[in-house]
Amino acid sequence: MEVKTSLLDNMIGVGDMVLLEPLSEDSFIANLRNRFDHNEIYTYIGSVVISMNPYRSLPIFTPEKVEEYRNRNFYELSPHIYALADEAYRSLRDQDKDQCILITGESGAGKTEASKLVMSYVAAVCGKGQEVNKVKEQLLQSNPVLEAFGNAKTVRNDNSSRFGKYMDIEFDFKGDPLGGVISNYLLEKSRVVKQPRGERNFHIFYQLLSGASDDTLKKLKLDRDFSKYNYLSLDSAAVNGLDDAANFRTVRNAMQIVGFMEDEVQSVLELVAAVLKLGNIEFKPESRCNGNDESRIKDKNDLKEMCELLGTEQTVLERAFSYRTVEAKQEKVCTTLNVAQAYYARDALAKNLYSRLFSWLVTRINESIKAAPKSRHKVMGVLDIYGFEIFEENSFEQFIINYCNEKLQQIFIELTLREEQEEYIREGIEWTNIEYFNNAIICDLIENHQNGILAMLDEECLRPGTVTDETFLDKLNTICAEHLHFESRLSKSSKFLTDHSLPHNCFRIQHYAGKVLYRAEGFVDKNNDLLYRDLSQAMYKANHSLMKQLFPEGNPAKVNLKRPPTAGFQFRHSVGTLMRNLQTKNPNYIRCIKPNDKKASHIFTDSLVCHQVRYLGLMENVRVRRAGYAFRQAYEPCLERYKMLCKRTWPHWRGPAREGVEVLMADLTVPTEEFSYGRSKVFIRNPRTLFSLEERRRQCLQDLATLIQKIYRGWKCRSHFLLLKKSQIVVAAWFRRYAQQNKYKRIKSATTVVQSYTRGWQARKLLRELKYQKRCEEAVTTISAYWHGTQVRREYRKFFRANAGKKIYNFTIQRIMQKYFLGLKSTMPSMSPIDKSWPVKPYLFLDGVHSDLRRIFHLWRCKKYRSEFTEEKKAVFEEKLEASEIFKDKKALYASSVSQPFIGDYLEISKNPKYQKLNSAMDEKVLLADVVNKINRANGKGTARIFLLTKNSVVLADQKTGQVKASVPLPDLTSVSVSTQSDGFFALKLKEGSASAIKGDFLLSSEHLIEIITKLHRTGATAADSEQLNIDISDEFLVQFKHDKVCVKFIQGGPKNGNSVSCKRKNNRLLEVSVPSTV
Ligand SMILES: Nc1ncnc2c1ncn2[C@@H]1O[C@H](COP(=O)(O)OP(=O)(O)OP(=O)(O)O)[C@@H](O)[C@H]1O
Ligand SMILES: [Mg+2]
Repeated sequence: MEVKTSLLDNMIGVGDMVLLEPLSEDSFIANLRNRFDHNEIYTYIGSVVISMNPYRSLPIFTPEKVEEYRNRNFYELSPHIYALADEAYRSLRDQDKDQCILITGESGAGKTEASKLVMSYVAAVCGKGQEVNKVKEQLLQSNPVLEAFGNAKTVRNDNSSRFGKYMDIEFDFKGDPLGGVISNYLLEKSRVVKQPRGERNFHIFYQLLSGASDDTLKKLKLDRDFSKYNYLSLDSAAVNGLDDAANFRTVRNAMQIVGFMEDEVQSVLELVAAVLKLGNIEFKPESRCNGNDESRIKDKNDLKEMCELLGTEQTVLERAFSYRTVEAKQEKVCTTLNVAQAYYARDALAKNLYSRLFSWLVTRINESIKAAPKSRHKVMGVLDIYGFEIFEENSFEQFIINYCNEKLQQIFIELTLREEQEEYIREGIEWTNIEYFNNAIICDLIENHQNGILAMLDEECLRPGTVTDETFLDKLNTICAEHLHFESRLSKSSKFLTDHSLPHNCFRIQHYAGKVLYRAEGFVDKNNDLLYRDLSQAMYKANHSLMKQLFPEGNPAKVNLKRPPTAGFQFRHSVGTLMRNLQTKNPNYIRCIKPNDKKASHIFTDSLVCHQVRYLGLMENVRVRRAGYAFRQAYEPCLERYKMLCKRTWPHWRGPAREGVEVLMADLTVPTEEFSYGRSKVFIRNPRTLFSLEERRRQCLQDLATLIQKIYRGWKCRSHFLLLKKSQIVVAAWFRRYAQQNKYKRIKSATTVVQSYTRGWQARKLLRELKYQKRCEEAVTTISAYWHGTQVRREYRKFFRANAGKKIYNFTIQRIMQKYFLGLKSTMPSMSPIDKSWPVKPYLFLDGVHSDLRRIFHLWRCKKYRSEFTEEKKAVFEEKLEASEIFKDKKALYASSVSQPFIGDYLEISKNPKYQKLNSAMDEKVLLADVVNKINRANGKGTARIFLLTKNSVVLADQKTGQVKASVPLPDLTSVSVSTQSDGFFALKLKEGSASAIKGDFLLSSEHLIEIITKLHRTGATAADSEQLNIDISDEFLVQFKHDKVCVKFIQGGPKNGNSVSCKRKNNRLLEVSVPSTV
């Protein structure tokens, strides 16, 4: 939404002087000072802008500011030059009204800067595009060029415009710039040859010498040293804050942008150099025979160089400086020039050369920037003309300048009043006559065709006879004496006879801006602006591209005997044209004021400002503006601004704005004489009324502000609360969501765990099944593969090469085995079990089989052998076996018994008749009958006895008689003791207490001991009632002899016993048996 503001907002002092209350010069200046102190350099008087020169750069000309002021109404923002520029541009563009911007003010007040600001603003806001931008750039860049050639440092201004400039900028219907036309007015050319103290010549001279390259300077035959040139004042050649060298580059660049060709620039610089050279030409007097002095050039070097620069012949110029040809009708009179005249001629040439060059520059720029001829252009003119000047010594230039300002003031008053009047008529307000000072009378004094000062000056100049400044002054004194604004000591009016501030050679004019004293000296000359024809012809002849254009009157073919128009005439004429031009346009005024004479910021000199306020007629301006109504405002903005003061219009007025304002005024009880209703505006007569409205508004705004604040605070608190509440809900929602999410996540993860376990379980189960299935399949596959393999192998084995080896091997093995077995069959040992022979093993690998076969064969052979046994033989072998079990490895005698067959009945007792009786005495069959030695217990000697063994008893009988000596039933035998040695001793031990034991045990010796003991053991074992018979085998045992127990000890006998066993009784208790060791 666009914010509606007003000039009245945040005003420092008053932004529009029309509202000043009370209106006086003091309050006017105090307001300006107040605003100036607050950096408010612009103040309005209605639509006129007063601009104070700040003498420093303020941050109010930025692109942002341009945007701020763009398309805003004039009174909407605080006063600014941009507001005026915007207003002018918009009414040009939108209402098709040609505009002119008149910038006035004294030297150094900021006119040129203001004109540049206006131009740059318009350039910024108007259309864009490549072509448009080029035009803009050319228009803007014409300024530095013209400033370099037309501006100079003066005591008042370091960049003082020494010419008047009016620039028409032309726009198309859209408001895009098309081009422009510059008009220049009266360059202060006297400055070329002489500058007042503390001032400089035109900038370009200094810029050229400081900024041009050595090469350029050489070409121009110039020296960088300013002091080498008479036309350049030395005391103020350097200006603070002015960089001539840099500015030269800017100017060159600007010339290029504007469209100067390189050779044109060169030509221009050559002329500038020529002017400098010209100043260095000096003359010396040379007496002639006729008594007159003639001038001669002192040093011709400068002349020569100048002629080279201009392309003129040296002699022609030399002559032109020495002679003057005057042509009158058909006559030609040639007179010599004295030194003073020569200097005059030189300076005149310099001034003319420079001023014509300047005019040429303007024309050339115009050529570049001119718009293509089209139907109609809208035009905005910007006038930057030298300001009203009052110097200590004022001459023709000041007179002309002040005349111009006088004219501008006139047009200003006329147009302001006219505008005011027009507005009243437009608005239907009754027009009341306004008293104001009209300076038309002063203009008339100067420009009147019959008796105006300029006309009289021209008259004097044209008059034949002696014409001097004095004669001119006399003429003024006679003709203008009565004029109210003319003052002279010698005038007929006696008023000034005693006025010593008015010298005799001066006259004074009461300008609208103050009285100015003019010295008459030089008026005639300057008005004549005489350049000797010889010089102009010499210049015309020059071989230089510009000269013919600059000095057209030098063309001998077009010799014009008529005097050229005077400077005054020309100026009056061009001012007249300018005024007519301005009157056709809508004027906009910028009135520049300089705050001090020191070119310093922050200094506000009241007296100086007061002086300017006076001569600019600003108070007048305010009065004119306020004569009827001080303030006016369109109904809409007025209602908008004050509607809050009335309940009916606040906050909205639905009807037409005018009615709203009427209601408002009625409600506020503003006296009716204080305001008037126009067609579109309300007019307020007195600023007081406006300020009271403003004050009420301010109060009301405060109340409104409080209300707004209250509502705002309430709203803020409420919205804060609502926000908190909303936030709380959001937070709670988020928290709940968070909690639920967490819960959900937990459940989800638990579910996932359970699920995963279940799935795991299912998966494992499935896996098991699948594995099982797979294993089955694999097994099936394997089995079938094996089966198929087997099948295939079986079927195809025979075809397998791999099996050949095995087959061959098996075959070989079979063959070997076959051969082995067949060989074995043929080499079989005998069937005797004791035959230990066995064929040698043919192969090492048959070792096990061979030995097994040997064992099997042996066992089989033994079995065969055993199967052939009879019962008796079997019994014999059983006995042998038992003997072996009892004695093998226990008794040395055993080995010798093995080969002896157990015959048993060695005595053939049944057959031998000798023992018939004994035999018959036996109730049982005799199992063994042998002769044994019964060892005598007394001496150890043996007695032969027959030993019989039956199934039940052991019988000892006498060998010779066959008489039974002792019969011992087997059950009475407890044990049999034998030695370990090869003897045949054995003791039969009887059961104690038995009947047989009375005689004691029997110690016997037999050759068949092994057989006897074996049979005894066998029999005893088979006897029904006998216990197992113990066989005690040891080398020492006890034998019970009747009452004694005797130890029988067997020792290895020595050699004395020979090979026989001897038994000796050693003592009662020891019976020693020596057994030969080699038995
Ligand atoms: N708006 C401004 N902001 C800053 N400085 C300014 C402004 N206006 C003027 N000046 C300063 O004042 C100086 C003089 O201004 P300017 O040349 O515009 O004066 P002028 O009125 O054209 O004088 P003259 O009549 O001699 O040409 C400038 O060189 C500049 O330093
Ligand atoms: Mg200027």
